[in-house]
Amino acid sequence: MEVKECIESRRSIRKYRNDTISIEAIKELIDAARKAPSWKNTQVSRYYVVRGEQLHLVYDNLPDFNQKNTLNAQAYIVSTVKNGISGFDHDGNYATFLKDGYQYFDNGLQVENLCLRASDMGLGTLIMGLFDEEKIRVSLKIPDDEKIVVIVALGVPETIPEMPRRLPMEEIVKFI
Ligand SMILES: Cc1cc2nc3c(=O)[nH]c(=O)nc-3n(C[C@H](O)[C@H](O)[C@H](O)COP(=O)(O)O)c2cc1C
Repeated sequence: MEVKECIESRRSIRKYRNDTISIEAIKELIDAARKAPSWKNTQVSRYYVVRGEQLHLVYDNLPDFNQKNTLNAQAYIVSTVKNGISGFDHDGNYATFLKDGYQYFDNGLQVENLCLRASDMGLGTLIMGLFDEEKIRVSLKIPDDEKIVVIVALGVPETIPEMPRRLPMEEIVKFI
């Protein structure tokens, strides 16, 4: 699929078919994620792929609407960042006015790569920012030096919605 078509056609999927997805396919997505750029190439994103019998470790700690939206998802990919590296100097101080913002920026670049590659492979994703952070941290044994950023549900799409409205170009850009 061309990049332009992939960008246009990726959607947040909230209805999945009960079809399996191989570990090899999931590795392909993580491989796309890790190729994204990052602050000084620090690559602080980490992934916890929850599948099969273990899905409940995440599912049980989602709000109702995210549970409903991810029924039949084949994996939850919990994405974290190793805290205090990207956007920080060698002494552990913020390197820029954005403070710890670049670690999340880096993570977003990786997660978008992952979602685009999934769409390219005919798979569906839903990025979720709403979940019980503490319970998921404990159940997946995520170390204290990592921050959970988002959880991506992964599955085979049942229905692909229309693109939600985007702001018009004039509203978001100024040519100077
Ligand atoms: C950081 C982030 C958090 C999100 N959290 C949720 C969520 O908890 N539940 C949900 O249904 N969608 C969530 N979304 C999906 C957005 O609602 C969706 O991307 C947006 O409506 C645009 O639709 P599209 O992805 O199909 O283009 C999240 C998206 C992002 C980037």
